[in-house]
Amino acid sequence: MRVVVTGGAGYIGSHTVTLFLQAGHDVLIIDNFANAAEDVPDRVAGLAGREAIVLRADITQPESYLKAFEDFAPDAVVHFAGLKAVAEAVADPLEYYRVNVGGSLTLFRIMQGTECRRLVFSSSATVYGDPERVPIDEGHPCRPTNPYGRSKLMVEEIVEDWGRSDDSLAAINLRYFNPVGAHPSARIGEAPNGVPNNLMPYISDVAQGRRERLQVFGDDYGTPDGTGVRDYIHVMDLADAHLAALELTGRASGVEALNVGTGEGYSVLEMVRAFESASGRSIPYDVVARRPGDVAISLADPAMAEARMGWKANLGLDEMCRDAWAFTRGRNT
Ligand code: UFG
Repeated sequence: MRVVVTGGAGYIGSHTVTLFLQAGHDVLIIDNFANAAEDVPDRVAGLAGREAIVLRADITQPESYLKAFEDFAPDAVVHFAGLKAVAEAVADPLEYYRVNVGGSLTLFRIMQGTECRRLVFSSSATVYGDPERVPIDEGHPCRPTNPYGRSKLMVEEIVEDWGRSDDSLAAINLRYFNPVGAHPSARIGEAPNGVPNNLMPYISDVAQGRRERLQVFGDDYGTPDGTGVRDYIHVMDLADAHLAALELTGRASGVEALNVGTGEGYSVLEMVRAFESASGRSIPYDVVARRPGDVAISLADPAMAEARMGWKANLGLDEMCRDAWAFTRGRNT
């Protein structure tokens, strides 16, 4: 199949493109490299034994990729490109709506004009907002609590309306829980610019000695050890879910949302201990105040993904920590 992957040089995108190439799909990556290293596509080609075509272009600027898109004539689009830092979105919501909503609309218009009607969209469990029950199934109300989450939900709703108007559209909104880990080769992984926002890259930096201490944001939540519980999913399992979703768009029509998580939750302190044992390093930490906007527990009910796509997560906490650590070490050597 011929697949356009926007944001294909980013963290989740690069792992997904690796699996697509290995599965025999032809890939056109459209990425502006705003949050990706220049050498990622070469690394992906090294892992897959095949290359994707790479176009440096911005999804918000149709003239920068319309011709390449038309020439490539994709059967499907997997749409990752977007901004994803919650605090940044609160500080500059218009920029988040411009890129995440405006960019998606521009891309969908181009798909519409080129008869491309298969879509997998990179959404987030953040669309659920503060969960009223866990595990969270897809029928849980969507009430995102920040502009980043709202931008993701708006795009999901745009896709749903598009599907209502065009019954040839087959689209899956994948709601990711907390992606962590790296490719087992340690050649690609998560390499955020600046200070990491997320727990796992921060822990990796502390284990590596690049940062001194972890700050644990609150230990007074209603969880077994008082720290926040999340459904961490290995990025290779997440990439595999995209392969399954791509296949599902070939046999299903309409628009559906699917959770992508493991159904298992770990607290911040459990993550710290698991990473200490994977790395053999100690992770010093201080407990500080809660981070505004955080919830106590976020946990997926992944049953629907298994029922609809025959997909479920296979990798556990040990593999997540092992692979994140191998990638972090490799970055500095
Ligand atoms: N945490 C710390 N210290 C840190 C960073 C995080 O204690 O330095 C804690 C948080 O309080 C939370 C847990 O670690 O309890 C996980 O935090 P992350 O920032 O790694 O992840 P979040 O669950 O807050 O958010 C992530 C993504 C969002 C996405 C959401 C989906 O960052 O983009 O999952 O549920 F929307």
